[in-house]
Amino acid sequence: MKSVKLGEHKFQEYLSAEVIANKVAALGAKINNDYTSDDPPIVIALLNGAFIFAADLCRQFDFECQLQLLRVSSYKGMESTGKVKIDHDAEPDMNNRHIIIVEDIVDTGNTLAAYLPTLKTKGAKSVKVCTLLLKPEAVQHDLELAYVGFEIPNKFVIGYGLDYNGRGRNLGAIYSIMANK
Ligand code: IMP
Repeated sequence: MKSVKLGEHKFQEYLSAEVIANKVAALGAKINNDYTSDDPPIVIALLNGAFIFAADLCRQFDFECQLQLLRVSSYKGMESTGKVKIDHDAEPDMNNRHIIIVEDIVDTGNTLAAYLPTLKTKGAKSVKVCTLLLKPEAVQHDLELAYVGFEIPNKFVIGYGLDYNGRGRNLGAIYSIMANK
């Protein structure tokens, strides 16, 4: 079993690069069924975590794809109510367009619960969410997730865009935290 150490924490491989690539291809195929080049979606990838997933996913699409990277950061205090900061200036014109929001992981769901309602006034024809990972035990909001790659246990993960204090994003596989000895 492959493992990596970041600071005092050890992580073990949980989803290999090959398993991820197969899932991204499957998600891409599903999304290709739902859209055409006549009415293509705008893909909005939420930064930083989703940048690698979005780059791989959008290269699966058969339709012409407009990709927008959007910084959305959640600041979590001692309480679980996350405050979410959204860079609205970087948003594309969504009027009369289909939108796909691409997330790396839905954990508490605070980010999407804060962001999705802000889209209601933008005139989009439809808004769907595609997330690579979902922690069902951690979600605190009723979110409609159209495309989900993997449901995973409520454990901290890194790799494939996901970080621990800014580290680990470049790992090709996804690693799950191991209990400290
Ligand atoms: P949420 O708002 O709690 O759903 O989480 C949103 C963001 O928190 C994700 O887009 C990630 O950037 C980060 N995050 C949540 N869980 C993890 C994890 O297990 N590893 C790394 N980042 C995470």
